[in-house]
Amino acid sequence: MAESKTKFLTYRRLMLWFIPMFFAGFQSCSPCEGPDCEDPPVDTLGKPTPYDFGLKAHFESIDPIFDNTPADNPTTNQGVELGRFLFYDKRLSKNNTISCASCHRQENAFSDPDRFSLGFEGGRTGRNSMSIVNMRWQRLFFWDGRAPTLEEQVLMPIQDHIEMGMTLDGLESKLRDIDLYPPMFEKAFGDKEIHRERISKALAQFVRTIVSQHSKFDDLYGLPESRIKAQLSEKEYLGYRLFTTHVDPDYGSGKNEPGTIFRGANCGDCHKTQLLTNNLITSNGLDSVTKDPGYGKVSGLAKYDGTFKTPTLRNVALTAPYMHDGRFATLREVIAHYDQHVKPHPNLDYQIGEAGNTLPGRLDLTEDEIDALLAFLETLTDHELIKDPRYADPFE
Ligand code: HEC
Ligand code: HEC
Repeated sequence: MAESKTKFLTYRRLMLWFIPMFFAGFQSCSPCEGPDCEDPPVDTLGKPTPYDFGLKAHFESIDPIFDNTPADNPTTNQGVELGRFLFYDKRLSKNNTISCASCHRQENAFSDPDRFSLGFEGGRTGRNSMSIVNMRWQRLFFWDGRAPTLEEQVLMPIQDHIEMGMTLDGLESKLRDIDLYPPMFEKAFGDKEIHRERISKALAQFVRTIVSQHSKFDDLYGLPESRIKAQLSEKEYLGYRLFTTHVDPDYGSGKNEPGTIFRGANCGDCHKTQLLTNNLITSNGLDSVTKDPGYGKVSGLAKYDGTFKTPTLRNVALTAPYMHDGRFATLREVIAHYDQHVKPHPNLDYQIGEAGNTLPGRLDLTEDEIDALLAFLETLTDHELIKDPRYADPFE
């Protein structure tokens, strides 16, 4: 009797492992949505399981040297799930009013439509909130590049006096007292202990999973020119050519026969590759007198005064307003800047300067060319990203 009971229990235990494992295979296609849903798949030893990014070929092919995932923080289903709850949890702020998602909204490609974001006590941030997509392949974080790793970056807004106003000691004890969290930390990291390093790791894991790779531009990336031309409207294609073509340094010098060269707008020199950024910090000539020193202050070097991170232009139609201080409300204003209003500055990027120096260049675009550039920028919108349930609020 006792023996058969043991056998039965053993059988039951086995079934308890197998049933979830069987369903786990199917579940990976329909992501978990909310605190009550089934657990993410756990392997037979109860260890966290690797997260499947589902990268398209042109993302899979990014050189691994650009991948900032640290060896001690692999991206796992359980870590990502925990990170998603933390990202959307307003209790990470001192008075339970602000979460990361308050300033990084999914419908705006994880940026904020406010010029300066609202902090926990009604204060406003000093800069415009950034779209946080494809962070896995970034080198420096924030407009001024002051955070060298994503793991360090994610703890900074929590402690910021305007943004979330918490201390890390306070956060650790607060999370320990919320029933939801100890079991989630256990699944993600092996035991229930909650401390800052794990909070940072989980948040960084979730942020790394926010990949934008499903725009019209992505469908064309790397195709031969003739196929790109065939798949874009005439306007979008003109915009694409303007975007990706260099300004001819001899343009306007009388050395070229009028109409013999295609005069580009040169955007793709800085907003380049499938990530639509060169991952560099530079000046695009917003001010002749530096107001915000940007990376100049971080590096302590005058040669970087007034320089900022080149942002990705992915989903740029959803991320207004624009620039580190949100000074431009529309993309038309952005193009007007590059077209006519680039300011002289000692640190102006040579790729914007007239004939490769630090005097401001002008593009002198026609109205049709401006419309074409705008039409091309619209092709960078990823409509799947903004409704992908994997990135949505788990508390709703
Ligand atoms: C009150 C608004 C606010 C909150 C809350 C907030 N952020 Fe931000 N975030 C910003 C602003 C503004 C910037 C740009 C600041 C700067 O460059 O000085 C930024 C920048 C970032 C960046 C850098 C992106 C890049 O391309 O370099 C990341 C990543 C990020 N935030 C993640 C988070 C995470 C994770 C949280 C929650 C722990 C969070 N943010 C909370 C407003 C906010
Ligand atoms: C020399 C490099 C360079 C070139 C060329 C360049 N940009 Fe930029 N771009 C930048 C930098 C740097 C910033 C951020 C500047 C800041 O906020 O201080 C930026 C910001 C932007 C932004 C704001 C994005 C946001 O999230 O706020 C848009 C839009 C933009 N550029 C579009 C373009 C277009 C369109 C062109 C071509 C006409 C172009 N850029 C050419 C470097 C460049």
